[in-house]
Amino acid sequence: MREFYLLWCFVVLFHVRKAFGDNPVIIGNDNADSPVIPAGESYNLTCYGSRPVHWITPSPPEDKKLWTTFTQTQDTSPFRSVLYIANMTYLVVGFYICQYDSIPYEQDQIYLYVNDSSHLSVIDNEDISILHAVQYEDTIIPCRPTAPDIHVNLLYFENDEMVDAKFDSKIGFTLAVSTITSGGYYQCNFNRASDNANELNNFILQIIPRKTFLAKPVIRDISQNHTEVGETFRLTCRIADESSVIFKWETPRGTFAYGNKQNENDVILESLKRYDINGSTHFDSTIMVVNSKLDDMGLYSCKVSDRQDNQEET
Ligand SMILES: *[C@@H]1O[C@H](CO)[C@@H](O)[C@H](O)[C@H]1NC(C)=O
Ligand SMILES: *[C@@H]1O[C@H](CO)[C@@H](O)[C@H](O)[C@H]1NC(C)=O
Ligand SMILES: *[C@@H]1O[C@H](CO)[C@@H](O)[C@H](O)[C@H]1NC(C)=O
Ligand SMILES: *[C@@H]1O[C@H](CO)[C@@H](O)[C@H](O)[C@H]1NC(C)=O
Ligand SMILES: *[C@@H]1O[C@H](CO)[C@@H](O)[C@H](O)[C@H]1NC(C)=O
Repeated sequence: MREFYLLWCFVVLFHVRKAFGDNPVIIGNDNADSPVIPAGESYNLTCYGSRPVHWITPSPPEDKKLWTTFTQTQDTSPFRSVLYIANMTYLVVGFYICQYDSIPYEQDQIYLYVNDSSHLSVIDNEDISILHAVQYEDTIIPCRPTAPDIHVNLLYFENDEMVDAKFDSKIGFTLAVSTITSGGYYQCNFNRASDNANELNNFILQIIPRKTFLAKPVIRDISQNHTEVGETFRLTCRIADESSVIFKWETPRGTFAYGNKQNENDVILESLKRYDINGSTHFDSTIMVVNSKLDDMGLYSCKVSDRQDNQEET
C-alpha cells in the first residue's frame, strides 16, 4: 500500500510540472554532461520543452563564421528542437543555451568541448587582448581550454610569477584586483601531456580606479534654445571623465544610444569625440535633428554611465 501511495505522488507531481511549464531540457548525442567532440565532426543537441524554444550558441569571429554551421529544427507536439552542429571547431567551444521564446529565463544549458590537438585554447593567440578591470572587483581572464584535460597556468609577467587565481575551465581565471599594481602583462600557458605542445594567450590588464561618482554632464545648446520648424539643430553633451563612458539620449522621438539606435529618420547621433582640455579627458556626444518638426519640441536629456554603474543625467 505504501509503495502504491509513493508511486501515485510521483505521477501527480510529474503532471503538475508538465502542466505549469518547466525548464527545457537539453540532451546530447551521447548523454554526456559536458561532451568532448572530435574536431571536424558533427554533433546534435536536442532540446525538449513544453512550448517553442530557441538556441543561443557561441559566436565565432566574423572571418571564421562559416567554419561551423548551426541548423535548427523545430517540432511541435511534443515541442522539440534539434541543433545540428556541423564541423565542430575550437571557436565554438562554450555554453549552448536552449530557452523558451516566451519565458527566456526558463532555460537549460550544456557546455561543449572539442578534442583538437592543434588548438588548446578557445581563442586564437595572434593578438594581445586588452582587458579592463575595476579596482577591488573580481575580473576574469578568459583563458578557456578546448577540453577539460588541458592544463592551464597563469603567469604575471611583471614579476614572472605564477598567479594563484581561481580557475574554471568553462570561465577562465577569476582574479581579485586588489591594488592598482595588478595591472600589466598576463600570459596563459595551455598544455596537454599527450599533445607534446603548448599554446599561449597574452593579455594586458588595465585597472580602472574605483569611482563612486561621475562628473555631471553638461548640455550645450548650439542653437540657443530656439529653433524654427524646418531648421537643423544640434545639442552637445559633454562630460569630464578619464575612462570610457556610455551616453544615452532621451528625446521626444525616443531613446538614442551608440551601437543601439544611432540614427532614425532625421535624428542623428554624431560619432563620439574624445579630447583633452587642460590635461583632463572630456567626451562630447552630439545629437543632431535635421529638418525639425513641431514634434521635436520638448525635453532632451543626456544620461551618462560608466562601467561601474555610476550614472549622471542632465
Ligand atoms: C543529426 O541530425 C541530422 C538531421 O536530423 C541527422 O541527419 C544526423 O544523422 C544526426 N547526426 C547525429 C550524429 O546524430
Ligand atoms: C572546418 O573547421 C576547420 C577548422 O577546425 C576549418 O579549417 C575548415 O575550413 C572547416 N571546414 C569547412 C567546410 O568550413
Ligand atoms: C582525442 O583524440 C585523440 C586522437 O586524435 C585520441 O587519442 C584521444 O583519446 C581523444 N581524447 C578524447 C578525450 O576523446
Ligand atoms: C535656454 O534655456 C535655459 C533654461 O530654460 C535658460 O537658463 C537659458 O538662459 C536659455 N538660453 C537662451 C539663450 O535663451
Ligand atoms: C585651462 O587652464 C587655464 C588656467 O588654469 C584657464 O585659464 C583656461 O581657461 C583653461 N582652458 C580651458 C579650455 O578650460
